[in-house]
Amino acid sequence: MRLTPDQVSLQARAATLSERLVRQRAAEIDRTGEYPWDIVEALKAEGFLGMTIPKELGGQGRSFLDAVLVIEQMARSCTVTARIVVETNMGAISAIMAYGTEKQRRLAAELVLDGDKPAICITEPGAGSDAASMTTRAEKRGDRYVLNGRKHWITGAGVSCLHLIFARVFDERGEELGIGGFLAIRGEAEGLVVTRREPTMGLCGMPEGELTFTDLEIPPEMVLLPPSGFRRGFADLMNAYNSQRVGAGTVAMGIAAGALEHALAWAKSREQFGRPIGEFQGLQWMLADMQTQLTASRLMLYAAADSHGPNGSPFPDPNLAAQAKIFASEAAIKIVNDALQIFGARGYSRGFPLERMARDVRMFTIGGGTAQILRNLIASRLLGWKLPQTRDGYLR
Ligand code: FAD
Ligand code: COA
Repeated sequence: MRLTPDQVSLQARAATLSERLVRQRAAEIDRTGEYPWDIVEALKAEGFLGMTIPKELGGQGRSFLDAVLVIEQMARSCTVTARIVVETNMGAISAIMAYGTEKQRRLAAELVLDGDKPAICITEPGAGSDAASMTTRAEKRGDRYVLNGRKHWITGAGVSCLHLIFARVFDERGEELGIGGFLAIRGEAEGLVVTRREPTMGLCGMPEGELTFTDLEIPPEMVLLPPSGFRRGFADLMNAYNSQRVGAGTVAMGIAAGALEHALAWAKSREQFGRPIGEFQGLQWMLADMQTQLTASRLMLYAAADSHGPNGSPFPDPNLAAQAKIFASEAAIKIVNDALQIFGARGYSRGFPLERMARDVRMFTIGGGTAQILRNLIASRLLGWKLPQTRDGYLR
């Protein structure tokens, strides 16, 4: 795939910020677990937040592939920074830009371009992979909806202002209408409370948390009505989510790229048996495999980012997004693990970046749709069959 001169220059700008500023902050962000507001300001100054927002709303109207190029460069140095770029350009913001009213789009664009990383609230304690079984309820009362329920593992809990909340919708007679999206701003919306921060294995600095909604009132102007209405709202919202899957796969690939760079430098400088360890063929073949897996991941992700789903969808193709995320996340875990091996004991030390990368990269076969669930999606489309996972098949 050949990048345009503009994309090459965007990539170079991102690499410069990543190497000059972001890299030196990564270990401290991991150690303190504090959200890096200084990095948010730097990303904002470079125009890397909300790049995909249309120009008429103050963004740059950039493509998902452009965003992917920046995410990759950030992830080489710092996973938290890369995830901020993902979530200000993909996922919730893409859904709002595609489905939102003019007022909603303006509100979201303003917040994101000012440094807010929106939160997307799908997962519940009882509804993870089986997201469509969510129990958070949005009940119509007069002209507004009232939300009650609980979400967990919400990225940005406690730092994000804008929240896109998926909920099961009921009309005034209590009849279920489907699944819809509801926008709420933390701080302004009473009834949205962060009730717990998850102690995570890695990705420290990006809070993961539980949100509780208690009679959270959503006025009509904050209801994100998907194009085909609530009945097929879930499918429309998941379609928008394909962009974030590509973004997440890219973070994994970028971490792997960073790990390979470290491993190469170490293989050339560390000496044992009187020669650089890179002279041993056992390590040379490991490095060659790491590079091969990385190149394949990169090509799949770029292709997925550059694709469109069926029927004029503005989002990446679900199938390509799933394939790229599975391949890149699984390859990245192996690449980072091998890089750590090449560092020997030092790979296991908190004084070197490999152990942080190994903790961070482990997440990407889980969050955003597990590698197993994504295989179900691919198989279903490959066979042309619906593959309901419930015991009673279609009868849910
Ligand atoms: P489960 O669904 O309980 O799955 C457990 C295991 O069973 C997995 O291995 C799974 O693959 C397997 N499994 C389940 N069903 C099947 C099946 N039918 N076939 C084969 N295997 C199956 N969610 C949000 O809504 N917003 C966020 O911002 C967000 N951020 C996250 C950030 C992090 C760091 C993490 C770790 C998670 C985040 N999540 C978020 C939640 C994430 O999307 C879920 O963890 C994921 O969808 C899986 O759900 P679960 O953890 O409940 O696992
Ligand atoms: N892109 C586009 N459409 C999608 C989609 C995607 N990624 N995932 C599901 N859909 C559509 C399906 O095609 C289906 O539409 P159809 O009725 O026209 O066939 C509809 O949404 C329902 O999907 P289906 O797979 O039939 O539903 P299910 O009840 O078996 O639910 C999912 C399975 C979608 C919940 C599961 O595959 C999944 O993605 N789980 C992970 C959730 C996740 O990613 N959470 C991340 C939170 S950050």
